[in-house]
Amino acid sequence: MKRKVTVVGAGNVGATVAMRVAEKELADVVLIDILEGVPAGKALDLAEAAPIECHDSRITGASNDYSLAKGSDIVIVTAGIPRKPGMSRDDLLTTNAGIMRSVVKEISTVAPNSILLIVSNPLDAMCHVALETSSFDKKRVIGMAGVLDSARFRAFIAMELNVSVENTHAFVLGAHGDTMVPLPRYSNVAGIPITELMSAERIEALVERTRKGGGEIVNLLKTGSAYYAPASATTEMAEAILKDKKKILPCVAYLQGEYGVHNLFIGVPVKLGSSGIEEIIEIKLTAEENEALQRSAKAVQGLVDDLKRVG
Ligand code: NAI
Ligand code: 2OP
Repeated sequence: MKRKVTVVGAGNVGATVAMRVAEKELADVVLIDILEGVPAGKALDLAEAAPIECHDSRITGASNDYSLAKGSDIVIVTAGIPRKPGMSRDDLLTTNAGIMRSVVKEISTVAPNSILLIVSNPLDAMCHVALETSSFDKKRVIGMAGVLDSARFRAFIAMELNVSVENTHAFVLGAHGDTMVPLPRYSNVAGIPITELMSAERIEALVERTRKGGGEIVNLLKTGSAYYAPASATTEMAEAILKDKKKILPCVAYLQGEYGVHNLFIGVPVKLGSSGIEEIIEIKLTAEENEALQRSAKAVQGLVDDLKRVG
């Protein structure tokens, strides 16, 4: 039976995810947006590319019509406003929380068994809104951040060492923001730890570039934020779930004691399969790495508290 992925928010990230999911023939795709005509227009445009791209995924789109999302296996939420130069991800908090609540309310009615992949920023806080609004099991509310941040780190490692990106592996944990925690100790090239391939100064420079990776693109684009790599990261997560791959990826998950963090979404390595987050993997951290993770958790907790205050 064909699978169904609904993407809410047919903007830059949403439309690119729709394209990648359809072209990989992972599922039929539904695009939903508040804008009149745009989701239907982009869906038709993508459907007209299908004969050339050689896939039979069905792509449909509608403005505010959630009935199309009925029975979705995965719902990817990219609805919201993106960052402009000078804005932090946290500046988007109240606007995107309102949008997230309205979207997740609709999805909980039409696709109560779906898995929610949250993309809208500020990511970790938006996962809280999605979990509270949906009352879904925590395994089925997952945030996309670590796969993107780790891909950025991997790209920078490959550029630095002039090696194939395919040889690189990296882990970035923590919140999707300035406090994210790239882990050089768990990052390698063909199994060789990067700590043996680069000086501590160069590693620190790449870590810093990774932390500021989203902002670097915002400053270049000027009118919005990154979307090609975010769409690829989201598609990798969707593929792991749809194909029940049991893939270990850094994802934003609801922690209840793991890593000493309680009742908070934050990025950690998880096993992704058909039921969503099938396991939270607890890797050993040094005192310094753990301190950085706890600092990151504190930053997310601050945003969640802000949300509670402003409603
Ligand atoms: P965009 O502005 O291109 O697209 C957002 C779309 O959401 C627009 O088409 C807009 O009409 C739609 N939208 C707004 N309110 C809606 C509602 N109530 N219902 C349905 N659709 C609604 O923005 P872009 O670049 O696609 O980014 C989307 C979000 O994803 C932003 O919040 C951005 O910060 C975030 N993001 C997160 C990343 C991550 O790593 N987690 C990476 C990249 C972007
Ligand atoms: C990024 O990291 C804006 O969160 C988005 O590119």
